[in-house]
Amino acid sequence: MATKAAFQAIRDSAPSVLPSLLLCDFGDLRHELAELSDVGVGALHLDVMDGHFVPNLSYGMPIVEGVRRHSDLPLDVHLMISDPVAYAKPMVEAGADMLTFHVEAVRDPIETAGQLRDLGVGVGIALNPETPLAMIREAIPMVDMALVMSVDAGFGGQSFNPIALEKLRSLRHDYPDLLLEIDGGIDVETITLARAAGCDLFVVGSAIFRRDSYRKAVADLNAAIAAAGENREEES
Ligand code: DX5
Ligand code: ZN
Repeated sequence: MATKAAFQAIRDSAPSVLPSLLLCDFGDLRHELAELSDVGVGALHLDVMDGHFVPNLSYGMPIVEGVRRHSDLPLDVHLMISDPVAYAKPMVEAGADMLTFHVEAVRDPIETAGQLRDLGVGVGIALNPETPLAMIREAIPMVDMALVMSVDAGFGGQSFNPIALEKLRSLRHDYPDLLLEIDGGIDVETITLARAAGCDLFVVGSAIFRRDSYRKAVADLNAAIAAAGENREEES
């Protein structure tokens, strides 16, 4: 079901953890998805890389479609590709509920957001750590979510860049209702900082897939989110 309703389910799950499948065992994807089905995550995060916008290749529509068939969770698709519009419709047909494009990849982010929005899915705009927040501001009225990268897009397992926290604080202050997502180097410590800075959705690769028990990993992350919520930074 690639609809706005499924996107709404992602929004309703917040604050929540979204496992990034980049580091899962693709040789045993069905088992991996079964392991994640009832551990308390908000959606699955799928990292699509083209070897051009980022210096790494991951996967495309067949994997998204396979995940769709074997999981009931909403699918949050992170497009790290040079031409997001060209692949947007096939991604929606494959089962994406949310499509996020990178502002650095497109000429006119407002136009791109509009083209993705026309497909009836949630739309996110992402920016890398080096990219100033000013680059996405004009497109924010056209999107459902901002994805603040806390590593350079392209690889799992990198270290958290705290510049993302400043961006989250600024976005939360200026756009109280905008869904905010963070991606890269999120673990029980950095998730606490991101939650305190106003983030809603937390993409996690290594801190789930490098652990023996996904259930325990997600429980620890959810506990950290809850604890941070009790000490939430002032929003004004
Ligand atoms: C990086 C991807 C992330 C990544 C997260 O380009 O967008 O989703 O897989 O992995 P960790 O949590 O290991 O940084
Ligand atoms: Zn990602």
